[in-house]
Amino acid sequence: MRIPEEIIERIRQSADILEVVGDYVSLKKKGQNYSACCPFHNEKTPSFNVNPARQIYKCFGCGKAGDSVRFIMDIENVSYPEALRSLAKKYSIEIPEQEATPEELLRQNERESLFIVLNFAKDFYRKQLLESEDGRGIGLSYFRERGFLNDTVDAFELGYSADVWDALLLEAQKRGYRPELLAKAGLILTNDRGRTYDRFRGRVIFPIHNVSGRVIAFGARILVNDKNQPKYINSPETEVYHKSQVLYGIFQAKQAIRQEDVCFLTEGYTDVISLHQAGIRNVVASSGTSLTIEQIRLISRFTENVTILYDGDAAGIKAALRGLDMVLEEGLNVSVASFPDGDDPDSYVRKVGTEAFKKHLQDHTQDFISFKTEMLLRDAGDNPFKRAEVITEVVQSITKIPDAIKRQVFFQKTARQLRVDEQTLISESNKLLRKQQDKPVRPRNEPSAPPAEPPFDEFWGDMPVEPAPAAPEQPAKPAVSQVQTLYYRHEEECLRLLLNYGPVELEPSVSLCHYMLHELNGIQFVTPLFRDMLNDIRAGFAEQEIRSAEYFLRHSSREVQQQTVHLVTNRYELSDGWLKHEIYVPTELDKIADAAYGNVLRLKKTIVEDKMEAVKRQIAEAQDRQEYEQCIELMTEFKHLKEIDKQIAAELGTVVTG
Ligand code: UTP
Ligand code: MN
Repeated sequence: MRIPEEIIERIRQSADILEVVGDYVSLKKKGQNYSACCPFHNEKTPSFNVNPARQIYKCFGCGKAGDSVRFIMDIENVSYPEALRSLAKKYSIEIPEQEATPEELLRQNERESLFIVLNFAKDFYRKQLLESEDGRGIGLSYFRERGFLNDTVDAFELGYSADVWDALLLEAQKRGYRPELLAKAGLILTNDRGRTYDRFRGRVIFPIHNVSGRVIAFGARILVNDKNQPKYINSPETEVYHKSQVLYGIFQAKQAIRQEDVCFLTEGYTDVISLHQAGIRNVVASSGTSLTIEQIRLISRFTENVTILYDGDAAGIKAALRGLDMVLEEGLNVSVASFPDGDDPDSYVRKVGTEAFKKHLQDHTQDFISFKTEMLLRDAGDNPFKRAEVITEVVQSITKIPDAIKRQVFFQKTARQLRVDEQTLISESNKLLRKQQDKPVRPRNEPSAPPAEPPFDEFWGDMPVEPAPAAPEQPAKPAVSQVQTLYYRHEEECLRLLLNYGPVELEPSVSLCHYMLHELNGIQFVTPLFRDMLNDIRAGFAEQEIRSAEYFLRHSSREVQQQTVHLVTNRYELSDGWLKHEIYVPTELDKIADAAYGNVLRLKKTIVEDKMEAVKRQIAEAQDRQEYEQCIELMTEFKHLKEIDKQIAAELGTVVTG
């Protein structure tokens, strides 16, 4: 259901940034502002800042920035409406259910109705487990046998599906759920004779939750040993369940992962549950598939450290090795811990208990690079060719690590392990890097970084701020042309003025926004993000609304919001003399107008010069093809552009911006 505007407004008014952020990190007052160690990345000295006056936060280390709602979205990894709901709960603001139009219902509720029917199914399976005779006699006693306590069964909302064809289907229909919806949710199947029946029958049920705790799928385990049936039956992919993006247990684990600053990755449902019960709660499972990039990114929202707990058998080890270079590439620190052959984390923790389990982890956790080196060396034996291959293979993994300092440490360590010279590894790695750089890179139409920006600004005042960590050496940087950088700079400057001073009246009833939009008439920005923002301002202006910082700080797009925080907090380049006061001083009206005018001119100059370059290329091509008539036409155009360029230059000379 859509949340009414006035309620959103009330939530925003109530959700004080200090309180909201304060729930997650401990803030220290520094002058007007507050600082803390950033909850979004790992750091020892605080570079995360909160400005209560503006109700925004910004991390100078990792760049995360926004308002209260954005903070919840980022830290809880939830959507915009979910963040609003969670804040509403915190401030006891009731959200009335609003009547949606049938059309809206249809569209927005496709997903929503899946959630509802999945939740119904979860409740149904739970009721079966706890209240039906078979549920208690078969399902619950199975869990008991495995040592699961009541609290654990509740925490994971475990259930039971009776051993009949259509128990869920019948109950669902009684409640008015359409069979099509049940099918879309993956709960029922239809065979070739047209008979419809429950997907899960005679099994214990493990609901799979998304990161905010909603049920999105199920895993169902067989209760007997039967070689002819799969041990687990899982929900198929649906509109709300994309297996590759989900980690089992993330909802129950996320808090602990952040607290412990490490995520344990296991293979199975039961590993997660047993460890959770044993008090080790920072555990998730990949559910028997190899790790995907989406799953890694999910983990990296909560911690940079992953320890993979794998079974001691050969298959487990192979599985642990697969796909791990990808994890390194994402900048995570990967370790592995093995268990005695024949044990998985579930059986092992039940065998030895929590303390011994933790001790085992301490003693057997090894960083992934040395683990891999050791494994490969063991395989290679004394064969010199194979040993050479090992070096290449390990160097490949190390080269994937984005952080140069970490790479350095691993070169040292691995050189000792391989008994080769560290320099050999480094030059091998450099070869790989060069090879990567020679590969054509995907063209990007925006510069990867804006022109150098001061590490912090007047606005954040007296806060000592750690300079942003040196950008990791990118193996292959997309080339950014000079002209793109110029576009970026001028467009950013235009937006900076629009966002900070849009409503300022330059003359009676002519706002800066009005004036600039007029000057920018017919121009589309080149940088995609800026183009969208400008068009947003244009759309607002058409409705007689001036969209400035206030509006964009609340924007639904993370990118836009972050950009806005940068634009309203970074030192103004053109003239900081008058901006120091923050408040607009009337006698300096002319300077804003001049800054705006000058900047639009610079942008126009860039556009014209870019066009001139293009025409020049066309002339050369036409000459090659010996199409002289076209050549002459193009030259006329070039001259015309040159003329405009000159005029702009002259005009620019008259504008004083300093
Ligand atoms: P395991 O066979 O290790 O199962 O598969 P487990 O979780 O340890 O279960 P118990 O302890 O034998 O009861 C690991 C994971 O692989 C997926 C499940 O997610 C399981 O938890 N799997 C396994 C399937 O999806 N289907 C199967 O048939 C088997
Ligand atoms: Mn097991």
